[in-house]
Amino acid sequence: MTELKVLEGKDLTRIERIGAHSHIRGLGLDDALEARKNSQGMVGQRAARKAAGVILQMIKDGKIAGRAVLLAGQPGTGKTAIAMGMAKALGEEAPFAMMAGSEIFSLEMSKTEALTQAFRKAIGVRIKEETEIIEGEVVEILIDKPASAGSASKTGKLTLKTTEMETVYDLGAKMIENLSKEKIQSGDIVAIDKASGKITKLGRSFARSRDYDAMGPQTKFVQCPEGELQKRKEVVHVVSLHEIDVINSRTQGFLALFAGDTGEIRPEVREQIDGKVAEWREEGKADIVPGVLFIDEVHMLDIECFSYLNRALEQDMAPILVVATNRGITRIRGTNYKSPHGIPIDLLDRLLIISTQPYTEEEIRLILDIRCEEEDVEMTEEARDLLTKIGHETSLRYAIHLITAASLACLKRKGKEVDIEDISRVYSLFVDVKRSTQFLMEYQEQFMFNEMADPTQDDSQMSE
Ligand SMILES: Nc1ncnc2c1ncn2[C@@H]1O[C@H](COP(=O)(O)OP(=O)(O)OP(=O)(O)O)[C@@H](O)[C@H]1O
Ligand SMILES: [Mg+2]
Repeated sequence: MTELKVLEGKDLTRIERIGAHSHIRGLGLDDALEARKNSQGMVGQRAARKAAGVILQMIKDGKIAGRAVLLAGQPGTGKTAIAMGMAKALGEEAPFAMMAGSEIFSLEMSKTEALTQAFRKAIGVRIKEETEIIEGEVVEILIDKPASAGSASKTGKLTLKTTEMETVYDLGAKMIENLSKEKIQSGDIVAIDKASGKITKLGRSFARSRDYDAMGPQTKFVQCPEGELQKRKEVVHVVSLHEIDVINSRTQGFLALFAGDTGEIRPEVREQIDGKVAEWREEGKADIVPGVLFIDEVHMLDIECFSYLNRALEQDMAPILVVATNRGITRIRGTNYKSPHGIPIDLLDRLLIISTQPYTEEEIRLILDIRCEEEDVEMTEEARDLLTKIGHETSLRYAIHLITAASLACLKRKGKEVDIEDISRVYSLFVDVKRSTQFLMEYQEQFMFNEMADPTQDDSQMSE
């Protein structure tokens, strides 16, 4: 491998849906890392949020590597929410990779391969490159219309100027296509990457600010560039080690990144890449940006995976590992031994533990308010009170789920605001865990496999 290939600037736009955690935009901390009562979509759980913030600050300062944090607490106490908040607060550059413990059990690759890939997704490489660009104001775009109408053979000329010079460039079909895709017109200030032909519109020239009245309010005005048209510019981009792995493994190739089916990557490929990256670091062309690997539901990992984690955390390029679990003292998967959180003691010993607490009624109310806003649901005070009470007595998640259902019930009766009647209607329509269990107890003999678990029986005796 002589030249390593790296992905250039990712132009992917993320589709944002209203998901369980879409209201979370950060950890909601102030400058002193104290948790604000209600900020960035986060409510309560202040000690845990502060602790997460301290870890984040250490990551940003580049002070720690290879540390691991465990978020432990009852179901629905915001463990996943805090991890999402960390991801948002981490910023663009450092990578945040996320997986659920169960994802390692795949038929396509071994467990350790899945974990290795996850670790390498969480390690960024910041690469500095010098590129040649042409930057100037578009004076004129001329496209020749050939007699035989075939778009492939289109040619044209592009005139660009700076305050000091003006040059005419020949255009090929590809460039013409790029120009029309970016809707470039004369009067625009553009930058063209010489190697890739990528065109970026930087804005409109100040000189043309009064030419058009058909401009949107977002139109940005910029000065016509000075000096030479051709410039050398240093560009910096961050890619993850995993992305470099995939692009350079011949059997997978570039497209695998988008398809997601990367398969196993040969160890030789990784070795070469690590060597090359080390070389770049020595030459000052690249830096390592350790990110965060978040493994949710970590009790789903088994003993082999845990021992892999022990080792992986000791490598010098290791990311920060954040894991979460809602389990108490339980069997370690793959063994007959029990351990706190289902995690072996030797790994637990390496973890900083952040615990989350159940929410108060007031906090539940605030979270429900945020969710109503996120889902665009209008709700009366009384309905909110009732929903809060339901949330307190059943679970926060159940109450959150009722919001959408209640708003549909409200829509059906052509109401404007969700009211008590809608809430009680969906409350009777969808049962929560407690009522469902109650029902099962009463009618258990009519269900299949209806033997009630004997509470005295130990679950460690269950076979795999
Ligand atoms: N402090 C909080 N502020 C705002 N929203 C929260 C907060 N805590 C939890 N939520 C929201 O409540 C719901 C349940 O929380 P979450 O999924 O984080 O629980 P969890 O601790 O991961 O539970 P489990 O152990 O079952 O995975 C989510 O929709 C989450 O976004
Ligand atoms: Mg969770």
